[in-house]
Amino acid sequence: MKSLVLDSIGIPEELCRGVPPTCEIIQVPPGKAVPFERVRHARSWIVDARTKVDRAVLDQLPHLLAVSKFGVGIDNIAVQDATERRVWVCNTPGVLDDAVAELTIGMIIAAGRKIVAFDRLIRAGAWTITPPELTGQVHGATLGVVGMGRIGRRVAQLASALGMRVVYHNRRRIRDAETRGLAEYVSWPDLFEQCDYVTIHTPLTDETRRLVGSAELARMKATAVLVNTSRGGVIDERALIQCLRERRIAGAALDVFEQEPLLPDHPLRTLDNVILLPHVGSATERTRSAMRELALANAVTAAQGERPSTTINS
Ligand code: DGY
Repeated sequence: MKSLVLDSIGIPEELCRGVPPTCEIIQVPPGKAVPFERVRHARSWIVDARTKVDRAVLDQLPHLLAVSKFGVGIDNIAVQDATERRVWVCNTPGVLDDAVAELTIGMIIAAGRKIVAFDRLIRAGAWTITPPELTGQVHGATLGVVGMGRIGRRVAQLASALGMRVVYHNRRRIRDAETRGLAEYVSWPDLFEQCDYVTIHTPLTDETRRLVGSAELARMKATAVLVNTSRGGVIDERALIQCLRERRIAGAALDVFEQEPLLPDHPLRTLDNVILLPHVGSATERTRSAMRELALANAVTAAQGERPSTTINS
């Protein structure tokens, strides 16, 4: 019998053709019920953020050897339950750092230099040159990076090249980033007090859920902007909405939300001081294709009984 690989991301046919003849790929579209009876013998499963892999689901797939995530965030996967069942959880680190970092910088510039605000004005028939509230500053401003992993570091590099001062806060200090002059370490309160822009690059875990809440927002400057391309759950969204409504900070630029897709009547959609994107941090052609290749390679390797290259639970 062939080793079965479930595909919930829609691997293109030409990639599937490169899979060894000992493996069979079956598509299981996200959002549709998984036909567990039919795929019970599956050995690996490729998923993206839309598929929740919890204990109940794992119990339906007793022969599973790996859950292969298309992306780095693994907050939709019950890693501990997988580990207890000796199921590898793997993701696609490294290949999306540049894409997410460049989008983050794009959002900083778009919010800081009011690109979206000017665009809205022009479409509304106005032609305004520079009212003071639309004169933002990026060069020379201070950027605070929350989470100095691969993506946080890349953002720090790009921001430095733009002439920004970069500071960071991380669970543990990253000395080499400091000695290389990439970013200065600051305390948690200082990061919010000192920065003109704060950008989030920490994974969503029990420890980071709603990490940025009313206390942190209250410390931010009235001119500051909060940027998030990591996971919506890291910010207390209700507190942020309140803060934006009362214009206690200048704005926010968000690519991720507590609940995705963002509901049509979500209050964030009504605010003019927030830039909204539909979770597209890694959405460049080359990045997505590298992610697909790595996610497929991990799934096929596991289906053949070998350890995938980028497991997070060893
Ligand atoms: C990730 O890497 O988890 C991204 O959110 C997927 O695009």
